[in-house]
Amino acid sequence: MLINKMDSSKKTIMILGASILQLPAIEKAVEMGLNVVALDMNPSAVGFGIPGVVKEVVSTIDIPAAIEVAKKYKVDGVMTLATDMPMRTVAAVAKECGLIGISEDTAVKATDKSVMRETLKNAGVPVPEFYRVMNIDEFRMAVNRIEGPFMVKPADSSGSRGILKVEHGDDIDSAYAYTKQFARNGVVVVEECMVGPEVSVETLAVDGSVHVVQITDKMTTGAPHFVEMGHTQPTRLGCAEEIKKVAIAANKAIGIKNGPSHTEIIVTKEGPKIVELGARLGGDCITTHLVPLSTGVNMVEACIKIALGEKPNITPSLQCGSAIRYFRQHAGVVKKIEGISNVEQMPGVKQVSIVHGVGETVTEITDSGSRMGFVIVQGLCADDAANKCERALNLMKIIIQ
Ligand SMILES: Nc1ncnc2c1ncn2[C@@H]1O[C@H](COP(=O)(O)OP(=O)(O)O)[C@@H](O)[C@H]1O
Ligand SMILES: [Mg+2]
Repeated sequence: MLINKMDSSKKTIMILGASILQLPAIEKAVEMGLNVVALDMNPSAVGFGIPGVVKEVVSTIDIPAAIEVAKKYKVDGVMTLATDMPMRTVAAVAKECGLIGISEDTAVKATDKSVMRETLKNAGVPVPEFYRVMNIDEFRMAVNRIEGPFMVKPADSSGSRGILKVEHGDDIDSAYAYTKQFARNGVVVVEECMVGPEVSVETLAVDGSVHVVQITDKMTTGAPHFVEMGHTQPTRLGCAEEIKKVAIAANKAIGIKNGPSHTEIIVTKEGPKIVELGARLGGDCITTHLVPLSTGVNMVEACIKIALGEKPNITPSLQCGSAIRYFRQHAGVVKKIEGISNVEQMPGVKQVSIVHGVGETVTEITDSGSRMGFVIVQGLCADDAANKCERALNLMKIIIQ
């Protein structure tokens, strides 16, 4: 049964996931003239609808099935874009088929926050005080050792799910119960709450050299759940060189030799410390939209090339600012969203997107999935982009009842 969409004169890339998150990679790979095999357990995933894409209805975490597909099409590269879940599958397929990619060991270090913390600490990369706990007794002991407020997080989740800031004196048993339900492997990490501005560092490693493409200033909802509400490039912090050094050291410690990473850092009084590192592109449009708008570097194309063993173009061609801001919202039913066409006409505005629109019930923002929409802007510099985003949000009228 093969493979009428495949052209044997072209290279073949396998992309894990065909949802909206992977769409930029699927579209770019098609545009580059590659054979594209996409895997997703959802038969109606949007990426399967792109003309030319070979559809394989396989879960992105089903490692044996993914290896079978990779062998069937003799793929030349394997990748996923901005999600953590398929990372271990990418590593296993790369190993089994002799392709470029992170090792399985690196995939674990980059997706399990407890193993990650341990690895970074052992390599001398700055991290907050942390404890790995498996049950309520260990949790109480860990809490007693930390002086100030602390963060409780599931070791193997993402998107701010299960993240909680807790103070001594709060009901810590309920905090543990809340976070534990998100911990698929049962491990919870308790750590000192770092104080300071937060950035992410977008890097590409090629043959063991880690290149910093951009540093992004991050805004979150703050306590208790720290959901990301905006990103601005380039960073306006004065310590970019120090941040770069810590991010590169973290990449090396985790073992990323080829491919992207998204390293989150808080700049504390003692200097930059790692929040976490993902062996993947940054989500929230950071790498698909903001990096091209601020630097001209196409990180998606670069990742595809790296996966295929080709040399990516990572030389910046622009020095601009870019920003994304998520809509302000509260719980209720969305009744009206006005002003979108005015916003779309504002200079610098590149995209306005509604994720949860009129008629839908929205909640307070407790994780990334609850955010109802966003605006993306290019500016002359970071401040200009950030200001234009705020003006755009102010022009919109969102009524939630
Ligand atoms: N130790 C910490 N100190 C201060 N803030 C933290 C700490 N850990 C996490 N946060 C905040 O919570 C957010 C989400 O935590 P993170 O570990 O990145 O989990 P996720 O995988 O859900 O993104 C971070 O971006 C940061 O704003
Ligand atoms: Mg994070």
